[in-house]
Amino acid sequence: MVFISPSILSADYGNLESELKRLTAAGADMVHIDVMDGHFVPNITLGAPVVKCIRKATDLPFDVHLMIDDPFTYVPDFVKAGADRITFHVECGSDTEKTIDEILDAGVEAGLAVKPGTPIETVFPYLDKLSMVLVMTVEPGFGGQSFMAETMPKIETLRQKLQELGKDMDIQVDGGINAETISVAAKAGANVFVSGNALFSAEDMRARIAEFKSLAAV
Ligand code: DX5
Ligand code: ZN
Repeated sequence: MVFISPSILSADYGNLESELKRLTAAGADMVHIDVMDGHFVPNITLGAPVVKCIRKATDLPFDVHLMIDDPFTYVPDFVKAGADRITFHVECGSDTEKTIDEILDAGVEAGLAVKPGTPIETVFPYLDKLSMVLVMTVEPGFGGQSFMAETMPKIETLRQKLQELGKDMDIQVDGGINAETISVAAKAGANVFVSGNALFSAEDMRARIAEFKSLAAV
């Protein structure tokens, strides 16, 4: 099943309520919320108080991507704020197992992310507990970067591993996803597509999401 998760990193932060209503009307499947702390990545975005405020603007699931050093400490805040799925990085400073358990104990789905240079095998020990693996297709930190096709073999390896295990888990890609790259990532085995610039720059976002969905149906 293909899912489109627009990243509000490319939205107008001064008008998040109307931006979220635009996403809902455009047929988005979820909302990708990029949380950056200025330590794990060289950029700062928003935190749990903002997530809590925008929770009222849409019923779409919140797909929260934590690009922060210490997710373990902040998971409870994002749970309370209304996250439906919390993804954090295997490269962060928190204990991976403990953080996954904390997310699951709160009744929220857990995702684990890998940066472009991190081997996919690092997520293998946790596959039993995860709902999703996020394979970053740019270096995390900023929107509007170019898709790194060299990350595709990691998706193929992960899909194969999941097949061996008899599991059908979500594989998300994030960074540089547009009408050209989405089919490349879909062919490799991804099924959840984050997109910021390519969606928010569309005059007709509904048409663009529909186009993305058909391009990703492989
Ligand atoms: C990058 C973020 C992405 C980014 C995607 O660190 O995790 O979600 O906003 O934006 P585009 O689609 O513009 O590359
Ligand atoms: Zn993201």
